[in-house]
Amino acid sequence: MIIRLFVSFWFLSQAARAIKTNVTIDDSSDPRTGRQILYSPPSAWNSGTLCQKGPGECTAIPSTDNLHEGTWHESTFNPIDSSSNNFPNTPLTVTVQFNGTAVYVLCALALTRSSPFGNSDMSFFIDNQLVGNFSRPAPNLPGYEYNIPVYSNKTLPPGLHELLIVNGRVNGTKSLIIIDQIVYSYVL
Ligand SMILES: *[C@@H]1O[C@H](CO)[C@@H](O)[C@H](O)[C@H]1NC(C)=O
Ligand SMILES: *[C@@H]1O[C@H](CO)[C@@H](O)[C@H](O)[C@H]1NC(C)=O
Ligand SMILES: *[C@@H]1O[C@H](CO)[C@@H](O)[C@H](O)[C@H]1NC(C)=O
Ligand SMILES: *[C@@H]1O[C@H](CO)[C@@H](O)[C@H](O)[C@H]1NC(C)=O
Ligand SMILES: *[C@@H]1O[C@H](CO)[C@@H](O)[C@H](O)[C@H]1NC(C)=O
Repeated sequence: MIIRLFVSFWFLSQAARAIKTNVTIDDSSDPRTGRQILYSPPSAWNSGTLCQKGPGECTAIPSTDNLHEGTWHESTFNPIDSSSNNFPNTPLTVTVQFNGTAVYVLCALALTRSSPFGNSDMSFFIDNQLVGNFSRPAPNLPGYEYNIPVYSNKTLPPGLHELLIVNGRVNGTKSLIIIDQIVYSYVL
């Protein structure tokens, strides 16, 4: 009896694994559906392609070798007026729709406290419901960390979902976000 249970659990878990497929949206569009990631306000965000054009274009210059496809999108939330962008005290958002049962957000994190200021303060909403946070002061070391799963959800009901990522909060601390890839799983 116990063996039978184990065997059927094993088959079930193998079956579940076999039909789950990951799709990497990377940081611009869904290769399966063509849906675009929406960065808002658009001019508060920099894409890695622009950042590589020269110093002064962007705050964060992570190493392309360590990023998926060498691309990223970054923004800095600042509660006060600054040179980062023209949207002081405005949380900066990423919106993406996907049809799936799991979602993962992978970021690079700057370890420095200046050039760039690497503090993180993100929140995550699924279908308009707050489901997670990622806040971390930068440890004040040189360089970056890569492939950090800042939010994962493996228990979504099947179907269409909207993920909203928010960088910063009104009256909060300055924060940097470097989006490398958004991955979701769907069941065939
Ligand atoms: C999908 O990608 C995530 C994040 O990289 C990983 O943790 C997960 O195991 C992957 N799932 C499948 C079915 O490949
Ligand atoms: C995953 O999403 C569901 C549906 O929005 C939510 O109820 C659940 O709390 C989320 N889990 C995590 C780990 O964020
Ligand atoms: C996220 O952080 C806010 C503010 O600290 C808190 O009110 C909220 O409960 C947190 N939510 C989750 C899902 O961790
Ligand atoms: C932000 O700070 C201003 C000025 O102190 C205050 O009027 C406002 O209510 C605060 N907003 C939030 C969301 O905390
Ligand atoms: C989501 O994908 C499933 C197959 O994985 C499909 O049956 C379903 O119709 C899709 N739903 C939407 C709203 O696109």
